[in-house]
Amino acid sequence: MKEKKMRSMMHEFLVLGCVLLGILGNVSAGITSSFVRSEFPAVDMPLDHEVFAIPSGYNAPQQVHITQGDYDGKAVIIIWVTPSEPGPNIVKYGTSENKYDYTAQGSKVKNYTFYNYKSGFIHTCLVKDLEYDTKYYYEIGEGDSARSFWFKTPPKIDPNAYYKFGIIGDLGQTFNSLSTLEHYIESGAEAVLFVGDLSYSDEHEYSENGERWDSFGRFVERNLAYQPWLWIVGNHEVEYLPEINEVEPFKQYLYRYPTPYAASESSSPLWYAVRRASAHIIFLSSYSPYVKYTPQYEWLLAEFKKVDRKKTPWLFVLMHSPLYNSNSAHYMEAESMRVVFESWFVKYKVDLVLAGHVHAYERSPDYSAFREASYGHSTLEIMNKTHAFYHWNRNDDGKKVETDSFVLYNQYW
Ligand SMILES: [Fe+2]
Repeated sequence: MKEKKMRSMMHEFLVLGCVLLGILGNVSAGITSSFVRSEFPAVDMPLDHEVFAIPSGYNAPQQVHITQGDYDGKAVIIIWVTPSEPGPNIVKYGTSENKYDYTAQGSKVKNYTFYNYKSGFIHTCLVKDLEYDTKYYYEIGEGDSARSFWFKTPPKIDPNAYYKFGIIGDLGQTFNSLSTLEHYIESGAEAVLFVGDLSYSDEHEYSENGERWDSFGRFVERNLAYQPWLWIVGNHEVEYLPEINEVEPFKQYLYRYPTPYAASESSSPLWYAVRRASAHIIFLSSYSPYVKYTPQYEWLLAEFKKVDRKKTPWLFVLMHSPLYNSNSAHYMEAESMRVVFESWFVKYKVDLVLAGHVHAYERSPDYSAFREASYGHSTLEIMNKTHAFYHWNRNDDGKKVETDSFVLYNQYW
């Protein structure tokens, strides 16, 4: 246990790395921000903190989170947990508040064990055939324990569709995580591209690990029940722990954070692609095989060939471990993936490669155009098929301070 703690302290020192491929004209020497974080290392919020409060009512649904449920944004997957018994496994929904004209049936309710932890009942429900650009209200649970939320579907796939994404990674459940999430919610972005490392439950004692997945789910519900996050795995999702006989990688993640992988003909929930508004987004796993002849390699090559820049002019790729990184933390960890995929990213004119892992902000072009050892979130505002705005917003003593921004010119158009 002591060794585990030390390893995690060494590991997590720096929130978001951003790598931009391609040349944006002449760029001068890189900037390293003089900002110094005041609270380091970040401390997890105690389990009795109000952000982790259990909703009232017997067996009330908790940890409600949604993600895109299909290839083109006309479906969502709604996931929630009931603590005491399975309870109703349906989502009631409709386009007016408190009036639910439709019902969707969840897939089989699941639960699992992990070391000495027994999970609640995990519900997964695909709500499909939605209208674009429409606000939907939904309700889960029953009686006094029923809970209602809403989400908005994206505009239809269109080359000039406006859309604002948020980018968050390595979130965890520290006081800084709360600051990041609160700032992000103020940004007005409509969906999050999440670059891996969700709960950091694996930094806790084995006996608290499962519980910290639950507390994380309750913490992020304030945003995740209302807008989709599109996630990938980070190293903290692997949880390969032979010492406690837990040897199924990504076990807890896979029960809790499904993806619409089959819609992009992927054979694994760990890598997939979606289209949303004017963007085609590819999600990779840094911790699954990706060399030649592996499923991820073959799938990615096929997916690149499906990209139609006339329909979705913007092409983004997400992975957890950054291909370029000038920090000592995690230096060159993704070098092998760079060797395999970098030439494809150039060939297919990827506009933006987003990664996490290193708990600091950094971007190219040039090896390191801007770097800052800060926590925070980014927004990516697509204006039309040729221009987008990128903003990095650091947390600074609880305030949001924008410290880096740039105009992203489409690499294809
Ligand atoms: Fe990581």
